[in-house]
Amino acid sequence: MMLFLDTAELDVIAARADSGLVDGVTTNPSLIAKAGADIKERIADICGVIPGPISAEVVATDSSGMIAEGQTLAAIAENVVVKLPLTMDGLKACRALTDDGIATNVTLCFSLNQALLAAKAGATFVSPFIGRLDDIGQDGLELIEDIRALYDEHGFVTRILAASIRSVDHVEGSAMAGADACTLPPNIFDALVQHDLTDTGLAAFLKDWKAAGQGAI
Ligand code: E4P
Repeated sequence: MMLFLDTAELDVIAARADSGLVDGVTTNPSLIAKAGADIKERIADICGVIPGPISAEVVATDSSGMIAEGQTLAAIAENVVVKLPLTMDGLKACRALTDDGIATNVTLCFSLNQALLAAKAGATFVSPFIGRLDDIGQDGLELIEDIRALYDEHGFVTRILAASIRSVDHVEGSAMAGADACTLPPNIFDALVQHDLTDTGLAAFLKDWKAAGQGAI
């Protein structure tokens, strides 16, 4: 499963790039606005740091506007993925951009029918928002599981990108439900490696080593 960072903060991305574990980045208009960045410059900078898929979202709401913005975003770098909202206009734009050979990420997916439409529109990725479904009392991970079953049953190649991640449990839940990728807020990415028993175990190993008079290998 690919791991993406869900942020537009360049220093945050750069600080985690050398882990070799960041396969891509997702942004959205809120994240770009929060970073106070120019979208074209920021996406170019992120593409220079991470060679994998970098999602950049359109803000037009009509299909022709989305197509024009998508072409502009895609021209920034080869690894740009044009993010489009799951509306009828977004799906039309997805089909047009896909037919032009541009990678797409259909976002704001909250139902199985929406995921079906995204796949039929040729989306490279579909982004079901797990956390926001949980927020309204639904089971976000169940949607991932259902989309996996639907895509496998019908041979759709659209990749499932679990989004709106709120916890480390969401990450392992997405992996087990069959997501192809998961986009993580940086604090959740950092928390994946943490386990108290790893810390106490390592401290004990090193204490024993030092007590025996051993040094660097
Ligand atoms: C995904 O691409 C979105 O940018 C993101 O995961 C949304 O997460 P939120 O619900 O925490 O805003």
